[in-house]
Amino acid sequence: MTALIIAIDGPAAAGKGTLARRLAALYGLPHLDTGLLYRVTGRRVLDAGGDPTDVVAAEAAARGIVPADFTRADLRGPVADEAASKVAALLPVREALFDFQRQFGDGRGAVLDGRDIGTVIFPDATAKLFVTASADARGERRWRELRARGVAAELAIVTAEVRARDAADEARAASPLRPAVDALVLDTTDLDPEGAFVRAMELLAGVLPSSLIVRRRDAG
Ligand code: DC
Repeated sequence: MTALIIAIDGPAAAGKGTLARRLAALYGLPHLDTGLLYRVTGRRVLDAGGDPTDVVAAEAAARGIVPADFTRADLRGPVADEAASKVAALLPVREALFDFQRQFGDGRGAVLDGRDIGTVIFPDATAKLFVTASADARGERRWRELRARGVAAELAIVTAEVRARDAADEARAASPLRPAVDALVLDTTDLDPEGAFVRAMELLAGVLPSSLIVRRRDAG
């Protein structure tokens, strides 16, 4: 039987990560937050005193990733966001990270969230969700996350950064952010994480094999 792959794409702070973790737990699958690969790559370039738009430095950083990089405490926040967005625009970086993502899902199945999982990494995924929300809703969520971590930030600035990063992710030539033609669109603007999970299960019920369809009362 082919492995179950659930691809979850969408812009920043749309609720992909929380949803991906819950779906992974529900189906007993490993979960990969692929944004971390670009965050780690951006950080490694900065550590080496390099520029995240320098393709040679960024590709070397992507190829040199070691497991300990994923436990770094400085992978979130505006500096990491910007460096990640810059290295993510470089095709050699994306190619360097391709095999890791494919191998993560091949064989045993997985839930992966990112920007190009359903379009590039797993174009034949069992199910593809494109999770989105208005830029204002996403800016406010990101602002609340920062405040909860004790980072002082202004809502208007955080929202503007979210918009700028979306624009960069959508406009880049290498794997631009866009829904796969066969993606199911989930708009979380007016949904809390529980509402988004329930709606995702409703959408998935239309595409998953019947043995995997979970009715609401059975779900975690
Ligand atoms: O999801 P995130 O905010 O952690 O992603 C960080 C950056 O990496 C963001 O600019 C989008 C980019 N990214 C990407 O281009 N492709 C992915 N599969 C995941 C993230």
